[in-house]
Amino acid sequence: MTQRSIIRGVGGYLPERILTNAELALTVDTSDEWIQQRVGIKERHIAAEGQFTSDLAVEAARKAMGAANVTPADIDIIIVATTTPDYTFPAAATLVQMKLGMHHGMALDIQAVCSGFVYAVATADSYLKNGLGTRALVIGAETFSRLLDWTDRTTCVLFGDGAGAVVMDLATDAEIAAGRGLLASALRSDGHHWDKLYVDGGPSSTGTTGHVHMQGPEVFRHAVGKITDVVYSALEKGGATVDDLDWFVPHQANRRIIDGAGNKLGLPPEKVVVTVDLHANTSAASVPLALSVAVADGRIKQGDLVMLEAMGGGFTWGASLIRW
Ligand code: ACO
Repeated sequence: MTQRSIIRGVGGYLPERILTNAELALTVDTSDEWIQQRVGIKERHIAAEGQFTSDLAVEAARKAMGAANVTPADIDIIIVATTTPDYTFPAAATLVQMKLGMHHGMALDIQAVCSGFVYAVATADSYLKNGLGTRALVIGAETFSRLLDWTDRTTCVLFGDGAGAVVMDLATDAEIAAGRGLLASALRSDGHHWDKLYVDGGPSSTGTTGHVHMQGPEVFRHAVGKITDVVYSALEKGGATVDDLDWFVPHQANRRIIDGAGNKLGLPPEKVVVTVDLHANTSAASVPLALSVAVADGRIKQGDLVMLEAMGGGFTWGASLIRW
């Protein structure tokens, strides 16, 4: 029987500190009304001083492992999707491995900005099917607040910090017979769009970390089309249609992009999982965080057909079709 990976548990973590729009409006020329109307964000969480991406990742990872009923001893692949690693190197994933008390297995980061988690799920799927390990911890974690210019109102209102994680292994024959598991992934990128959304620093260019820059209307213009293209591509590969979907879990970039993609796909709003109002855009963490919310509140149940989707800097974009 063909091999297929499956998600065994999901977990999310948000730092304690909540920054509301009203608080932001005290320091930059913006308003709660503008932010809610343009992007649907009410508040975001901000990591504490000394709290790093790997710390957020570990919190989410522990919850995912608890949900999957496994311990670090059972994990032999760690993939962290992040744009904001603790250090330029080593990979945040190796720090997660250390903090989980592991000496075994392998660990690496994936850098595909907001699409990172979807890329990481597809990577874990391939590693598992190719026998590189038996159980993967796949994490999206960001301290994106540290890339922001807090005086630039066009970007600082959009993002937040957080982490989400899943545990994946290979589905059993019975699960595959029931149609469960990761059915298809579709990944894309086009580096010609790099300067529409980027950070103006890096180890090889400036030797500094830099700040986020974005051509907002250009990002918006590309987002809806690219999202729908890659969703259709994953549906076709998985032999399903939009009508078959029970849940759409999109990257939580902003409410208007989510609504635009949902409308273009013809999805009823009640099938779309939305957390951007309370989390803002947490980049690679946004999809697993949204997933953790919809699994924890009982919306996503065994047997449901779920589409994960993301688009971000590069541009990169991707989708995963999963029978839960
Ligand atoms: N508060 C108040 N006014 C603001 C703010 C703010 N936070 N930010 C911008 N403005 C002002 C601008 O300065 C401009 O003023 P002006 O007309 O006096 O020059 C006015 O609002 C309109 O600016 P635009 O950039 O044209 O506004 P637009 O309607 O395009 O909305 C937005 C901007 C919300 C950023 C939109 O382009 C968008 O949603 N883009 C997608 C961006 C996104 O989601 N990026 C996330 C990362 S990408 C990803 O994850 C997929």
